[in-house]
Amino acid sequence: MSAQHRHVVVAKAAEIPPGGSKIVEVEGRSIGVFNLDGEYFAVRNACPHAGGPLCAGVRSGFVRSEGPGHYEYLRRGEFLRCPWHQWEFDIRTGQSWFDPQKTRVRRYDARLVAGAELLAEEERLAAAGLQKGPYSAETYPVRATEEYVIIEL
Ligand code: FES
Repeated sequence: MSAQHRHVVVAKAAEIPPGGSKIVEVEGRSIGVFNLDGEYFAVRNACPHAGGPLCAGVRSGFVRSEGPGHYEYLRRGEFLRCPWHQWEFDIRTGQSWFDPQKTRVRRYDARLVAGAELLAEEERLAAAGLQKGPYSAETYPVRATEEYVIIEL
């Protein structure tokens, strides 16, 4: 785990199954956490256009066609459409598909961590004389036998 970033436990793994999402509050910031086929991504729940609740928007993909009667639906559920004015953002990168050169939504690294690893890190920090900071977005008594979704701030 990186020493430069502070990690925050935002959910138990079972709370965000593949295709699922959860909006969490972390230090006054609203953040949407998404599970795309087992990979976790997190973006700020504030649209860079006018601050709309982006993560509450509809999720979609791309449709590609090579001719009449043929279509392919790609990257299903990987794009967020803001409910206010319909700007779309790629959940994986935070990049806008309305204004790709200039506009993106803040994203955070998110991943799954075993409870045992979180507990071991706490012990390492305590042994080094460091005190526990405001790690958790919500109260999660961490158990070694479970897995947790964390985001890096
Ligand atoms: S506030 Fe999101 S598109 Fe306008």
